[in-house]
Amino acid sequence: MWGVATAACQIEGAAAIDGKGPSIWDVYSRKRGSIDGGDTPEVACDFYQHFPDDVKLMQELGVKDFRFSISWPRVLPEGTGRVNERGLDFYKRLTDTLFSHGITPHATLYHWDLPQALQDRYDGWQSRRVVEDFGAYAALMGKHLGDRIRDWMTLNEISSFTRGAYGVGKPGQMAPGHSLASERDVNQVVHHALLAHGIACQALRASCPASPRISIAENYSPFIPVLEDPAGVDAACKAFRRENGGILMPILTGSYDLEWMEDHRDSLPEMRPGDMELIHQPLNALGSNCYTGRYVRPAEKPKGYEIIAWSPKFPVAGPTWLHIVPESIYWAVRLVGEAAARKDLPIFISENGCADSCEPDASGLVRDIDRIMYYRAYLSQLLRAVAEGYPVTGYFPWSLLDNFEWARGYSQRFGLVRVDYATQKRTPKLSYDWYRGVIAANRIV
Ligand code: NOJ
Repeated sequence: MWGVATAACQIEGAAAIDGKGPSIWDVYSRKRGSIDGGDTPEVACDFYQHFPDDVKLMQELGVKDFRFSISWPRVLPEGTGRVNERGLDFYKRLTDTLFSHGITPHATLYHWDLPQALQDRYDGWQSRRVVEDFGAYAALMGKHLGDRIRDWMTLNEISSFTRGAYGVGKPGQMAPGHSLASERDVNQVVHHALLAHGIACQALRASCPASPRISIAENYSPFIPVLEDPAGVDAACKAFRRENGGILMPILTGSYDLEWMEDHRDSLPEMRPGDMELIHQPLNALGSNCYTGRYVRPAEKPKGYEIIAWSPKFPVAGPTWLHIVPESIYWAVRLVGEAAARKDLPIFISENGCADSCEPDASGLVRDIDRIMYYRAYLSQLLRAVAEGYPVTGYFPWSLLDNFEWARGYSQRFGLVRVDYATQKRTPKLSYDWYRGVIAANRIV
């Protein structure tokens, strides 16, 4: 699959139109100082109105697969109960349009836009009540959209909307931006998200008329052995299990990693009987949101590995966290089989991309050769995984359009297509032409 990825809150706009309820991002972004430039997702790319043209852009690009997310407060303005038919209708019109352009929809149920009503009612992800409500929402989507959508992702990047939003003693940068008293409280929030993933898998399987293909889009950390010899690979495997031990490992294996538990022995979440079984649902695939990775080497330490610190001028592609590590995409695939013992699981890249630093030229073209370099380097490493027989099934670059980059607002542009936010004019960038060439030739060009 050659696709593109997006998310509701980052592109749709129409934040209070046709009965949509507010999300935590609508409310959080209005809080002074929370978002660069005071930006909000209120209008974004106005995909809500412009989607027919944007689907045409996808078709011209040649993609056959489109990843988007459903806005929970658009279909359930209060989070539970009353269904907003006009919200549901939007996703029906969107999927119809995709089909008429030969494009398959891949829907994420939760890409960070919790209904504010649930934040107000019980503090959102801090409460275990969210699990049941998420299950009911998933069942509703399966019932109403399951005839059109077969490919589902439950949640997007658990660590980002939990650890990124809830700091210990200081608020996180993601909505709702709360500070919690202890690491244990943060681990509890994560545990609720894991349970929500599990219950959504069950709800979709019970409610979709045709058997759904279910995955989760996770930004687990890949580790790259500095020296690729058996000891180096062993160090990467150890780091992979332990550092991903609190999210990916329970999803894939049914238990928190033992060494991760050792690291968190004073801050483990409350786990009830049956929780780990619920979290450990069968998956049809794993989505990897892969942007960067860390280098490791074996070490004479209790952990058996050392994560190498970034050298001061290590190249980045846009945001300061986005170190350019093309090998990360190869190891993100390989280590799922090798470290987590899930060689059976097909993997697709649910996101990969970078922010460019270019202004359009006089003709409006963005000559984003930095993005082309980035994509070519990462795809070459993904090709290595394919060549070695790993089950790679697809690639969804982030993103089709420049969009609302959360706490960074509109300042960081991740799109293959430039968006002029004042006019909503779309202009394909040079990287769009390049990616079209890749898809047409079905190889790296
Ligand atoms: C991952 C997130 O899923 C997406 O929403 C975000 O825009 C990109 N990373 C880039 O930071």
